[in-house]
Amino acid sequence: MRDRDLFTLRLAHRFDQLYEALQAVYGTRADFDAVLQRVIVRLAEAHVARPEPLRLLDIERDLSPGWFQKESMLGYVAYVERFGPDLTGVTEQLDYLDELGVGYLHLMKLMHARAGENDGGYAIVDYTGVDPALGTTEDLVALCDALRSRGIALCVDLVLNHCAQEHPWALAASAGDARYRDYFHFFPDRTLPDAYEATLPEVFPDFAPGNFTFDETSGHWVWTTFNRYQWDLNWSNPEVFLEIVQVMMTLANLGVEVFRLDAVAFMWKRMGTDSQNQEEVYDLLQALRACSAIATPAVAHKAEAIVSPDDLIRYFGVGKRHGKVANIAYHNSLMVQYWSSLASGDTTLMTHALAEFPRTPDSIAWGTYIRCHDDIGWAIADDDATAVGLNGQAHRVFLSDWYAGLFPGSDALGGVFQYNPDTNDRRINGSFAALAGLQAARERGDEAAIDLAIERMLLGNALICGFGGLPLLYMGDEIGLPNDAHWQEDPAHAGDSRWMHRPMMDRAAAQRRHDPSSVEGRLFDGLLQIVTARRTTPQLNARYDTDVLRTGHPRLFTIAHRHPLGTLIGVYNFTAGTQWLRAGVLADEGVHRPLDRLGGSLLPVVDDHVELGPYARCWLVDASAES
Ligand code: GLC
Repeated sequence: MRDRDLFTLRLAHRFDQLYEALQAVYGTRADFDAVLQRVIVRLAEAHVARPEPLRLLDIERDLSPGWFQKESMLGYVAYVERFGPDLTGVTEQLDYLDELGVGYLHLMKLMHARAGENDGGYAIVDYTGVDPALGTTEDLVALCDALRSRGIALCVDLVLNHCAQEHPWALAASAGDARYRDYFHFFPDRTLPDAYEATLPEVFPDFAPGNFTFDETSGHWVWTTFNRYQWDLNWSNPEVFLEIVQVMMTLANLGVEVFRLDAVAFMWKRMGTDSQNQEEVYDLLQALRACSAIATPAVAHKAEAIVSPDDLIRYFGVGKRHGKVANIAYHNSLMVQYWSSLASGDTTLMTHALAEFPRTPDSIAWGTYIRCHDDIGWAIADDDATAVGLNGQAHRVFLSDWYAGLFPGSDALGGVFQYNPDTNDRRINGSFAALAGLQAARERGDEAAIDLAIERMLLGNALICGFGGLPLLYMGDEIGLPNDAHWQEDPAHAGDSRWMHRPMMDRAAAQRRHDPSSVEGRLFDGLLQIVTARRTTPQLNARYDTDVLRTGHPRLFTIAHRHPLGTLIGVYNFTAGTQWLRAGVLADEGVHRPLDRLGGSLLPVVDDHVELGPYARCWLVDASAES
């Protein structure tokens, strides 16, 4: 079959998905047909230019579209400069990633960002150019090739909501070029910005208050949701869409396999609303998704939307967009609930909130994670809190206090981020080890506290690996790196305390991972056991539903993964005490002789209960079904 036929087949298969979404956004424009045609030409050109090995990968993924859902898939997330410290250095670290069984690598601050402050790389001056400090395009291609030969997919950020004020588009717009003016949201005075502000929240109230910035050169106000130097793109202009399609095609043809679509919630603006999660955002993402599926089908899309569950679920597509928007999205609530249950030692809220979570299409995967490069915002819905007898605001205050180490009994060493006096909202920074109490315990030399903190962290890793998603490990957490004590020393970082939990990789600490008596060795080995068990546990493939069981036990979090081979029940003890789960909970799901696939042994049923030690985590299946 000729390549052209393959393209035509894929276009025919996805045309409706592309057309309907583009039509919904740009359909009323006189030039709509021309826009559609230009998009298709761009896709065809990319397809023609696609290198042979990637064409093969396209076919492989056509045959196996659920590749990122597999129980063997594990993600690793790192800053190039912190892990590498450049692209060649990353290439040299691939054995380390192989040791963990990584199949997906998200590298940050990879494309060329503005000099100085750049929001951790999210202020782009060149969407397809590698940051010169990290390497060249050739280095990127070499890395992609090396990763692909090991079965590791490279994930790169595509910053869709904004670019840097130094991006050539922004410079031209600022200088008065009418074509590029229309790439952004420019306002001659404060009338419209003030009207919008009435309903807009602030993302960085501390260091970037307001959503508009005065541009001296043009004498206009520009929409800047994040920092003053990040200019929001005007997606109502189809030229912006066409530019980004071109960027996606270029990066995909270099070998990028996953796009992390950054800050997508903010892409569309509407007066009188918070200008987040607008209908057009889902259409735009559906259209972009269709573009990849047509021209570069090996590529998956991950949406970064840290929003409420009902809005979040729409990034996977609901109704007519079912399964057509993004392939992967962050499960922010799971992350928040892990930290919440750990602090309170009570899983009632977690069980309620996650049991109420909307269902997802079976073609997607949650990105499950404990920590990432960003702060933690306490996304606890007031309704959920009320339903379990808590006050949402009071609980959020408790969590901030706990993780900032201000609450009696807390061992956490987090830092407060973006205190908002109006709402009393305080987000939290800190590495996994710092927030879970490991760092403080080590500083005190408190062996018993170290033991418990390690168990707490392994509980977290078992949870994200056992939830039925794509687990994303943040660099350094596998060996318990503490907060970076020197983060303020770099002037470009000093104003942003998220750098606290973005330490340099500590190679000496990583070397200790093979020493079973070291903390690093215990954490790393514990994680390996989890990852290894997961690989042979088909129930944990992300395509199968995860159901939260309301067992009534306030200290355990219990989930069921139903599968043709038999149900798997995940049980997680969020306390330092021993707990007992009624065996009936397991028997109701067909698990009569509970075999723990994680620990590798049968769990004795005593007096109709199974025993779970401090921070225990078990993946239980029926032993007879296994044999
Ligand atoms: C995303 C990134 C975050 C960045 C923001 C603006 O949320 O994860 O680091 O500050 O987008 O680009």
